[in-house]
Amino acid sequence: MTAEKKPTEESKKYLEVRGLHVHYGNIHALHGVDLVVGRGEIVCVVGVNGAGKSTLMWAITGVLPVTDGAVLLNGTPFVHATRLHAARPHEIVNLGISLVPERRRLFTALTVKENLIMGSIRRTDREGVAADLERCFSLYPVLKERLAQRAGTLSGGEQQMLAISRALMSRPSILLLDEPSLGLAPLATESLFDTILKIREEGVTVLLVEQNAFQALDISDRGYVLQAGQIIESASSAELIENPMIQKAYLGIF
Ligand SMILES: Nc1ncnc2c1ncn2[C@@H]1O[C@H](COP(=O)(O)OP(=O)(O)OP(=O)(O)O)[C@@H](O)[C@H]1O
Ligand SMILES: [Mg+2]
Repeated sequence: MTAEKKPTEESKKYLEVRGLHVHYGNIHALHGVDLVVGRGEIVCVVGVNGAGKSTLMWAITGVLPVTDGAVLLNGTPFVHATRLHAARPHEIVNLGISLVPERRRLFTALTVKENLIMGSIRRTDREGVAADLERCFSLYPVLKERLAQRAGTLSGGEQQMLAISRALMSRPSILLLDEPSLGLAPLATESLFDTILKIREEGVTVLLVEQNAFQALDISDRGYVLQAGQIIESASSAELIENPMIQKAYLGIF
């Protein structure tokens, strides 16, 4: 039997968001957000509509400029307020960070296969891409049956499977998921959260943003509560579930 490994300081801070500020013109959407994700963890950020969850995801992936603060991978900043030196979104994908955006944002006129290929577009390792396609099919067998179908004609649940698979096709070490359960029926939601656990078992680190706080906390190791652009609470997910303030505001328990 192998001894349980104690995480090092470095692995505790695989992805680090440090003092992040984002503005949309005069609107100050993120007010100095700090969070860390350790290698192999599932970390969730819960918050109501307009809390700044998607803004955080777009800032980490280099799509939105930040006005202050930084995002670091393994201690190296790749997002910061000095735009000139900040990584571009495609460079951030190359660093191993991939986002499943809110409402999927699939290429709806393209087929399932074409969407999957788009996810791997920056890769040159043909054998690796073929192996990752098989990995997606073992996760979601239905995608293999629907390869020639246009993405826009898939059901909501199937579209979410495709969005996750497209993100996995870039072979990320960190998968960012923005409200993946949005619009899914209860059974599809349950299977989605099971899949997230499977993806982590394969060695992928997960940062999950959800309004569906109970299920997100249920599968994650730690959680943060984002309110009006600020982190107001952070703890192990088990502690957050027991926290009366969280129960009242986010879990509908009175
Ligand atoms: N393009 C934009 N222009 C101006 N303000 C914006 C823009 N996008 C977002 N905002 C504002 O920034 C704040 C955070 O929005 P964001 O979309 O990040 O919230 P969210 O937590 O993802 O919400 P939801 O749960 O509804 O997806 C909100 O007040 C929103 O109105
Ligand atoms: Mg959002």
